[in-house]
Amino acid sequence: MQVSVLGFGGSEIGYQRTSARTVAALLGSALDAGLNVVDTAECYEDSEALIGKAVSGRRRDFHLFTKCGHAGGWGRADWRPAALLKSIERSLTRLSTDHVDLVQLHSCSLDVLRRGDAIDALERARERGLTRYIGYSGDGPAARYAIESGRFDTLQTSVSIADQEALELTLPLARAKGMGVIAKRPLANVAWRYTRRPDSYYVDYYERLRALDYPFLRQPATAVATALRFTLSVPGVDTAIVGTTKPERWQTNAALLAAGPLPKTEMESIRARWREVSEPSWEGQI
Ligand SMILES: NC(=O)c1ccc[n+]([C@@H]2O[C@H](COP(=O)([O-])OP(=O)(O)OC[C@H]3O[C@@H](n4cnc5c(N)ncnc54)[C@H](OP(=O)(O)O)[C@@H]3O)[C@@H](O)[C@H]2O)c1
Repeated sequence: MQVSVLGFGGSEIGYQRTSARTVAALLGSALDAGLNVVDTAECYEDSEALIGKAVSGRRRDFHLFTKCGHAGGWGRADWRPAALLKSIERSLTRLSTDHVDLVQLHSCSLDVLRRGDAIDALERARERGLTRYIGYSGDGPAARYAIESGRFDTLQTSVSIADQEALELTLPLARAKGMGVIAKRPLANVAWRYTRRPDSYYVDYYERLRALDYPFLRQPATAVATALRFTLSVPGVDTAIVGTTKPERWQTNAALLAAGPLPKTEMESIRARWREVSEPSWEGQI
């Protein structure tokens, strides 16, 4: 696959119940402007159906990624092969397509990976033509094991100014093995924008960013651009899937990337600050 460096992350449109009309405007205009990666999952509420409705008529214009493992909702994982295959088939129906480009195991544990039968199920889906490629989406030692197993084509993992574990633990090896790498949560949910501690799944990023206190985050006009350029300048990252519910956001973010990779000195200072401040508990966030 030849992927656009800026992709689209589909969790927000599901969890925030974005209207079909807004999703059609958002994805339609982004595809016109050069987007060619759309990532979603089995458990992001109506995200798959919204994407199917909005752009299944333009299926050849983009690479479509989904995930499996929580067909009954996040927190109700089912890694049995039959359940995974059923979930993939349901995804195809919802997405109004006969195949996706990538199916990813949605952050299963190291134990599940080691058992092997969940990976067998993905391989069966690939043999049946339900997906072109198979991947693992997750972090930490499980992601490392997924790469070492040699059975996955891609890794989706958290990479951002607030989440740098992957830069040493997994990305060099994934790169050496020629895997496709998708950076999830690439803007660290812009968690620095909150003045009060948010009661949300990105609270850890909020806390980390307060401790890191990067000087560039004090410049609102360029903070998002620097954060996104950091993620995309990390060696091995192929695409960054920013989540949004807003039409025009993709085009705005694409324009921020026109400046290209961050200069080496800026990369180094962000890395140095992370090494200085981060704690051993600052693991890759699912
Ligand atoms: N375990 C997994 O497999 C897993 C876990 C988490 C995420 N993911 C994937 O990764 C994708 C991205 O993760 P994410 O959405 O949690 O985090 P993210 O992409 O780091 O952050 C998304 C947030 O950034 C905001 N944003 C984007 N561009 C902005 C800009 N120019 N200025 C200000 N705010 C901006 C969006 O707000 P607006 O809506 O206002 O644009 C949204 O609230 C998900 O959609 C999903 O596909 C996978």
